[in-house]
Amino acid sequence: MKIDGVPFRTIWPAEDGRAVEILDQTLFPHRFEILRLSGMDQAAHAIRVMQVRGAPLIGATTAYGVALAMRVDATDAGLAEACATLLETRPTAVNLHWALERMKAVLAPLPAEARAEAAWAEAAALCDEDVAINAAIGDHGLEIIRAIAAKKPAGEPVRVLTHCNAGWLATVDWGTATAPIYKAHDAGIPVEVWVDETRPRNQGAFLTAWELGRHGVKHKVIVDNAGGHLMQRGLVDMVIVGTDRTTARGDVCNKIGTYLKALAAHDNGVPFYVTLPSPTLDFSVQDGFDIPIESRSGREVTHLAGMTASGAVEEVRLTPEGSEGENPAFDVTPARLVTALITERGVCAATEEGIAGLFPDRAAA
Ligand code: MRU
Repeated sequence: MKIDGVPFRTIWPAEDGRAVEILDQTLFPHRFEILRLSGMDQAAHAIRVMQVRGAPLIGATTAYGVALAMRVDATDAGLAEACATLLETRPTAVNLHWALERMKAVLAPLPAEARAEAAWAEAAALCDEDVAINAAIGDHGLEIIRAIAAKKPAGEPVRVLTHCNAGWLATVDWGTATAPIYKAHDAGIPVEVWVDETRPRNQGAFLTAWELGRHGVKHKVIVDNAGGHLMQRGLVDMVIVGTDRTTARGDVCNKIGTYLKALAAHDNGVPFYVTLPSPTLDFSVQDGFDIPIESRSGREVTHLAGMTASGAVEEVRLTPEGSEGENPAFDVTPARLVTALITERGVCAATEEGIAGLFPDRAAA
């Protein structure tokens, strides 16, 4: 995506080839700062504290984390230690596991002296693939938006509701849920987006709103509880969300609150689409309830963080002293509530047959 006319990805190798650079997402939307990650520990830290987040970008950062580690210690022990450290950062997005497996498969058979170069090349290839996957998701999703637009009076916008940030900031570029929106906007189809603020980390209010605004897409930020009301009033044409892990039978694990949106959509006959890049598929799991759900600090619930005009991050307490917070970060939307999955290979039913039909190579592996 372009920022002030300059094309940006969310992660890239530094010019000196000794580090990778990211956009520090903990500072958005108040500050736009590039952060240099010079070692594997810094990459792990960036994932843990959510300087980078979103399933595909977690996968990409993991791959570069391994590449950074290989510069320091490319022995079998070094590779194992890097993988173990990165694995502990965040539990839910399966892209992290997928990226580690992919890196290990490439690196383990090589002699130690060949591993660093191979790791950097593989991480770069993984990032390029992510961009291509998301662009293809955008093309398939565009056709769905186009079909909805065709049924509306000419010039009336297609109103899309989205949750969290499954935008380009959550991927290497394009985003998953936002790719169809950007492609529709670029094709001249009027689109308006309801952006769930997505408490407690506010990825919608902080990140999705920023992205859409930069791209010139009309949008309004709504509180997380407003979606059901808007759907009852006929003000939502479709919901599009991302996913952190989708099981073999099509259960979808995504940011906490996604399930409630799916229920409201089902009750109101609003189509509920999940944009699914294939690295986010987990064929080893059938039942979404078997996916590990990240439990984050209750402080994210009891306190609200913002930034002062001077750029300092400040917290205010929302709750009475003594009231603790509980903070499950993801929930599971059962496949039966999902209208369809939008993947890089096309659109399919959220069923075992639908998914295996598009990805027979992955399903059989
Ligand atoms: O906790 P986060 O910000 O990493 O959660 C992100 C989401 O839930 C996204 O919807 C998901 O990773 C899909 S990103 C294309």
